[in-house]
Amino acid sequence: MASSLFDLDGEVVAITGGAGFLGRTYAQAISEAGGIPVLLDINEPALEGAAQQIGGPVATYRCDITEPDDIRAAHRGLIERFDRIGALINNAANNPTVSPDAGMAYSGRLETMSLAQWQADIDVGLTGAFLCSQIFGAHMAAAGGGSIVNISSDLGVISPDQRLYRRENIPEPEQTVKPITYSAVKTGILGLTRYLATYWAKQNVRANAVCLGGVLNGQPETFLNAVAERIPLGRLARCEEYKGPIVFLCSRASSYMTGATLVIDGGRTIW
Ligand SMILES: NC(=O)c1ccc[n+]([C@@H]2O[C@H](COP(=O)([O-])OP(=O)(O)OC[C@H]3O[C@@H](n4cnc5c(N)ncnc54)[C@H](O)[C@@H]3O)[C@@H](O)[C@H]2O)c1
Repeated sequence: MASSLFDLDGEVVAITGGAGFLGRTYAQAISEAGGIPVLLDINEPALEGAAQQIGGPVATYRCDITEPDDIRAAHRGLIERFDRIGALINNAANNPTVSPDAGMAYSGRLETMSLAQWQADIDVGLTGAFLCSQIFGAHMAAAGGGSIVNISSDLGVISPDQRLYRRENIPEPEQTVKPITYSAVKTGILGLTRYLATYWAKQNVRANAVCLGGVLNGQPETFLNAVAERIPLGRLARCEEYKGPIVFLCSRASSYMTGATLVIDGGRTIW
């Protein structure tokens, strides 16, 4: 049966940033496919809330993915409890929301970005994905295989269109922008994916990346209208629309796929 190819019966899937907006959606998808989502997140209260939303078995670990000791502790706990891990989703990243009305916590501008901000964004989005791949991936390689899914973005393929974030009557140096770190992290994730895919191919550890387009999440109408004009399908994604690709990449439905970049962006990057 083709549909059984997508079954994750009892497969343990670790999700970094699992308590966040999209992490919860992936966790729900894994659970609905019969798997056991394991949420790793630095935000402990959010972890509790996320776990309660999942109907089936779920595990949570408070874990800062920039700290190797934290990841090793979560990995040890997970293996003691479940014995093995079938898939890892490298999802956590600093995800600065920029919109003309909401602005953002820091301007993101290239000229004034501090080295500390650059380092913090790279640490979570890229170094964290490296460390989790190293620790969980090595275990999968030794145990006979697994799947690593790296979350990139349409901004891993194209440059941000900063005109989307412009606010009227504000001098140029004060305009907020999508920061350069986001492009660097999301492009770097694609290289990491290809490297992992060949490195552990013989051990049957597959690694693939998804480039996700923006998701509807209460953005102001003006922003939604402006971004819709740049997307052939004419809208942002609904978070449930990413459930299918995640289950596909974690399951044996994608058993002959590795090192690939799956672009799911309503067509944004083909325009
Ligand atoms: N939301 C979108 O529109 C969109 C679009 C394309 C790609 N993405 C990507 O999807 C992923 C998830 O985005 P989201 O919108 O759910 O973001 P989010 O901010 O809601 O979730 C990120 C989660 O990561 C956690 N986190 C941050 N630093 C951490 C650390 N050091 N260790 C462990 N956990 C940490 C946060 O606590 C949070 O729960 C990101 O990689 C983002 O770049 C999002």
